[in-house]
Amino acid sequence: MVTHERLICSSDEVVEKGMGVRFDMPHLGERETGFVLRYRGAVHGYINQCAHVPAPLDWKEGEFFDLTRTAIICATHGAQYHPETGYCELGPCKGKSLKKLNIAERDEKVFLIEQI
Ligand code: FES
Repeated sequence: MVTHERLICSSDEVVEKGMGVRFDMPHLGERETGFVLRYRGAVHGYINQCAHVPAPLDWKEGEFFDLTRTAIICATHGAQYHPETGYCELGPCKGKSLKKLNIAERDEKVFLIEQI
């Protein structure tokens, strides 16, 4: 297995509790995406797929946070996930988790670290 770094975006595109940045994940499927967002200063990344039903989480591209900007919310049935862990704290998939991605931030850039 080889470690591969993929550039996702520049750091300034991921604003604290702001819009997330989606990116394609073609090896998971033609329409599959991942996303990164910033919470408490750190960038976190997940596969954009709810733990309840495998549907994208954002109601509008990049809109992952709920109104309080303290939880990731699923647009379909409202499951709420902790932004730092991806753990579902409320909703039909309570107790399950989003699939977390290995993200690195350095030199003002955000990278996805993949094992290929
Ligand atoms: S598909 Fe996300 S809560 Fe049902």
